[in-house]
Amino acid sequence: MENFTFYNPTQLIFGKGQMQQLTKEVPKYGQKVLVVYGGGSIKRNGIYDKVMSYLKDIDTEIFELSGVEPNPRLTTVHKGVDICKNEGIEFLLAVGGGSVIDCTKAIAAGARLDGDIWEVITRKKAAVDALPFGTVLTLAATGSEMNAGSVITNWETNEKYGWGSPAVFPKFSILDPENTFTVPRDQTIYGIVDMMTHVLEQYFHHIENTPLQDRMCESVLQTVIETAPLLLNDLENYNHRETILYNGTIALNGMLSMGYRGDWATHNIEHAVSAVYDIPHAGGLAILFPNWMKHNLAANVGRFKQLATRVFDVETEGKTDKEVALEGIEKLSAFWSSLGAPSTLADYDIDDKNLESIADKTLVYGEFGNFNKLNKKDVMSILNASL
Ligand code: NZQ
Ligand code: ZN
Repeated sequence: MENFTFYNPTQLIFGKGQMQQLTKEVPKYGQKVLVVYGGGSIKRNGIYDKVMSYLKDIDTEIFELSGVEPNPRLTTVHKGVDICKNEGIEFLLAVGGGSVIDCTKAIAAGARLDGDIWEVITRKKAAVDALPFGTVLTLAATGSEMNAGSVITNWETNEKYGWGSPAVFPKFSILDPENTFTVPRDQTIYGIVDMMTHVLEQYFHHIENTPLQDRMCESVLQTVIETAPLLLNDLENYNHRETILYNGTIALNGMLSMGYRGDWATHNIEHAVSAVYDIPHAGGLAILFPNWMKHNLAANVGRFKQLATRVFDVETEGKTDKEVALEGIEKLSAFWSSLGAPSTLADYDIDDKNLESIADKTLVYGEFGNFNKLNKKDVMSILNASL
């Protein structure tokens, strides 16, 4: 493996009833608190009332920013930054899924920035400081609750970029599986696909001697594959929600990729697709990932074969490595389809009209992907295969 330094300061507070830890954690950071949330799910399922009652118990001065969109928008980040600057906010609390958390990260950094946060998101400036913030996670998917990444969409220019900074690790994240009971079936499926692709993005690398990392990735995938169908049959099952929630965090908090860099090309392509069509992030991934895999098979067929045999139990006898690898990819696609995930861009009524401009968007920072560098021809080929 390569040399590495692991850093992750987020305090993970996991389990039933853990939301009351807000009364202990929030006062450490400030009294003026901006609560950030989405389109209203937390009001319907009672999480909002609980959070507010804990915050009132500790005499916080509460401000609110609601309406954070799935695929959070720059305009909403700007609103949050204005509130922070005008009201002297000391701490932010994100209550929601990855979109709410990502938006909060951008607000936290924007509030301590001289200039527009878009310059940070487009990598012209670094975020060196941010207001402290915590999260109450309500949806298992992105891992944003325990990483320093954020993805923001500029809907005026149809650009969606990931950015990150050690300044935007959450101070703490509270994960109560019961807070995910009301996540609808489709969002539950998207979350499952998202966490699996996070593992897969990391699994495809060429660094030698990563046996423990490989086994950890494979274990996460196997656990999700085992649990997902059970959960989808019983959406309020505590144990299954708990397992999936924990998997989502482990999949993208840095634990799996010590000693090597993952690929992340498919995430880049998906971000460009959803910048134009505003589709759910993991819906796009379910469509694109198998086509990225087929396109890059030759770059290291052994990795694909290992995935096929260890995770999808593909038999090897009488088959070439390529046949085994392809069977593994087919099994992955079949698994996602069995859950109800989309498999073609046509499932979202996307045709070939904008593929070229989507491909251009993926290349703004040049050719990309650490497993295999992709150029425009490669991206067009993956997009066309996904139609
Ligand atoms: O907005 P509300 O009303 O809260 O409803 C949300 C939203 O409509 C709903 N929801 C969340 N918790 C719920 C619930 N509904 C009922 N009960 C609950 N307990 O679910 C919908 C989707 O929420 P969202 O936060 O958008 O989903 P997700 O967590 O999948 O986040 C997606 C965003 O994260 C980015 C994606 O690109 C996308 O913008 N990503 C962030 C990453 C990161 N920061 O590390 C990595 C990922 O790869 C991803 O790119
Ligand atoms: Zn993702």
